[in-house]
Amino acid sequence: MTIILGIETSCDETGVGLVRLDGSGAVELLADEVASSVEQHARFGGVVPEVASRAHLEAMVPTMRRAFDAAGLKMSDVDAITVTCGPGLAGALLVGVSAAKAYALSLGVPLYGANHLAGHVAADTLEHGPLPTPCLALLVSGGHTQLLKVDGLATSITEIGSTIDDAAGEAYDKVARVLDLPYPGGPPIDAAARRGNPRAIAFPRGLTGPRDARNDFSFSGLKTAVARWVEAREPEPIPVDDVAASFQEAVADVLTAKAVRACVDEGIGTMVISGGVAANSRLKELAAERCAAAGITLRVPRPRLCTDNGAMMAALGAHLVAAGVEASSLDLSADPALPV
Ligand code: KG4
Ligand code: ZN
Repeated sequence: MTIILGIETSCDETGVGLVRLDGSGAVELLADEVASSVEQHARFGGVVPEVASRAHLEAMVPTMRRAFDAAGLKMSDVDAITVTCGPGLAGALLVGVSAAKAYALSLGVPLYGANHLAGHVAADTLEHGPLPTPCLALLVSGGHTQLLKVDGLATSITEIGSTIDDAAGEAYDKVARVLDLPYPGGPPIDAAARRGNPRAIAFPRGLTGPRDARNDFSFSGLKTAVARWVEAREPEPIPVDDVAASFQEAVADVLTAKAVRACVDEGIGTMVISGGVAANSRLKELAAERCAAAGITLRVPRPRLCTDNGAMMAALGAHLVAAGVEASSLDLSADPALPV
């Protein structure tokens, strides 16, 4: 039996998770504590890197204490540590990496520097158990929008597509600003969209032409189209619900159409959606519909596991340990642009 500590600080969430790996390879979630600095960023309409780094410094030790209390464990029970070493904000990542190194050195346990995107995929195993491979992961958050082919969680993840400009969540946050809705924009747009007509306005679907990259995404044109539409309408009142619904339909349509087509292209029978935008009601509904029609099994972890957290890094750590992957050395550094 192995206890694994996971530390995540790539953006604005300080996450500390604990899992137990047993001899059969089963992974059990013991604690998942998160301290978010999202409210400190709200008045800027986006994450301010310096503010996030400072908040991680302040939150690290208290979040760690809460996790150990929740699990009823002592620091000395830890057998291995996994920390996000990229991709993410440089200063934010460094806080987690430095803390993880200090704990690993003082406890005399192995340290695993691990990829944040792989962690998002691993999060699903905490809710739905082992992932069948190959599977396709659609990662959609404020910082990333990627299609990953997963042949082995610990050993083989390949990026087969990504956004060429804004991330899906970033588009939500920017459109929310245009519509005078609060930050982060996903939840208020989702709520407004449920009251609106998704066919009210035909917003563009980026990169869906026959000669466009099959697995890549673009949301910058959509965001601009929404801003232009609103500008052209002023000073008339803006039908916020219809704009939100039409925008949301365009995002969900493109994400699900491309992800399902990638599964079919690659002969993959399981899709996982993770990241903050995976909480979106229309994305989940349309993904369920289209996956069912294509005979694909869809897995979406609960929102708490979709957003950034330390438990996902601990879960990934369990897979690295179980697969016998070599631990990192103590000169591990953060890589803001770390590829999968
Ligand atoms: O994964 P996450 O917590 O942080 C990272 O960006 O890594 O994702 C946050 C993003 C934000 O852009 C937020 O607007 C979006 O997820 N989001 C949503 C919803 N809830 C959160 N987007 C659409 N619909 C939602 N219900
Ligand atoms: Zn993330």
